[in-house]
Amino acid sequence: MMHKTDMRQDIESILLSAEELKAGIEKLGKTLTEDYRGKEPVVVGILRGVVPFYATLTQNMDVPMVQDFMSISSYHGTQTTGEIRFKKDLDVSIQGRHVLILEDIVDSGLTLKKVVEELKIRNPASIKVCTLLDKPSGRKVEFQPDYCCFTIPDGFVVGFGLDYNDHYRNLPYVGILKKEVYSD
Ligand code: IMP
Repeated sequence: MMHKTDMRQDIESILLSAEELKAGIEKLGKTLTEDYRGKEPVVVGILRGVVPFYATLTQNMDVPMVQDFMSISSYHGTQTTGEIRFKKDLDVSIQGRHVLILEDIVDSGLTLKKVVEELKIRNPASIKVCTLLDKPSGRKVEFQPDYCCFTIPDGFVVGFGLDYNDHYRNLPYVGILKKEVYSD
């Protein structure tokens, strides 16, 4: 059961501290600054877990860009087919543009595989995926992000945007959630 007043009581251990996150994202920002120089990318964030990562990373990308967001829901019970629904689509056109998709975590790979397939139909000049966390042990389909900040082991993590039942997003670190919180 979730702790009523203190989120931190539900955390087993800290996987990535605020300092480690900041350092890792700054480093990735430098790489992306080089890779996207002169390309004016459309940086697409997948709501809502991406918000802290999106803000920190884009502040460390020293290139002109267009910022946009999309919101997706997976149909419960159809996880194996990876069927998704766009709750909020992009506001801008990506035709002929360089698209960089930002996501909080790649687990099964189903969500991003579908998003990339959908966005490719709109004829962008290029499309790449950048994730804060990659959990390769969870893969159900073949999917390799183009950029990844941290590869993490199996286990359910929360914080720095990631949630369990819409809680814990505002923790400044990534922590492993205690099993008793989600197993009852
Ligand atoms: P997938 O790659 O299609 O399985 O889905 C990725 C989505 O699953 C993420 O955007 C998260 O919302 C959610 N997710 C997967 N693993 C975790 C986790 O450890 N903590 C919180 N959310 C997770």
